[in-house]
Amino acid sequence: MNATPVVVLVSGGGSNLAALLEAAKDPAYGVQVVAVGADRDGCGGVEIARAAGIPTFVCRVGDYTERAAWDAALADLCADYDPALVVSAGFMKLVGPGFLQRFGGRFVNTHPALLPSFPGVRGAQDALDYGVKVTGATLFLVDEGVDTGIILAQCVVPVEDADTVEELTERIKVAERAQLVEVVGRMAREGWTVEGRRARIGRSR
Ligand code: GAR
Repeated sequence: MNATPVVVLVSGGGSNLAALLEAAKDPAYGVQVVAVGADRDGCGGVEIARAAGIPTFVCRVGDYTERAAWDAALADLCADYDPALVVSAGFMKLVGPGFLQRFGGRFVNTHPALLPSFPGVRGAQDALDYGVKVTGATLFLVDEGVDTGIILAQCVVPVEDADTVEELTERIKVAERAQLVEVVGRMAREGWTVEGRRARIGRSR
């Protein structure tokens, strides 16, 4: 079986990327991370990729006069590696219509909350502030909205009474990494289908 080429986009420490790279060491996993892109210099995710010998690119919004030009450049950089799937693993930028025209339906994002609750950049903090007793992580297909795309998988994480945001964030990230690795692998090996808002991983029956 040929490995499915995947580009991973990061902005932060890259623990989700690291988990994907670890899984991809096993040929049976069926994924090859062909490149890692970031929207900023010097983030941990890019360092992890470099250490693993994977091609990297950086595409900064500030280097473009218009957001649409950044969006097109990001899409071009991803397309250079001909990925079947693009994974946003802590990529903290919203992509625009240009990017989605080329990668829509095969651009997945992992979010640290049970969507549609707590979208945005403060998933763990917002869940804690609201006082929910469970939260989790959501893997979804990115669309034009903010964390509104079709849900591929979710996992539940308890919120403990004494949690700090750091503790909750870390508990979510442990579950999130396992989910990301499992579902991206299944998507690569088995494919997926979408009907309305309902996604199903694996071959359709
Ligand atoms: C992850 O928890 C991911 O869900 C979150 O950033 C973290 C990146 O961690 N993304 C968002 O909040 C997107 N709205 P990592 O750099 O260690 O993989």
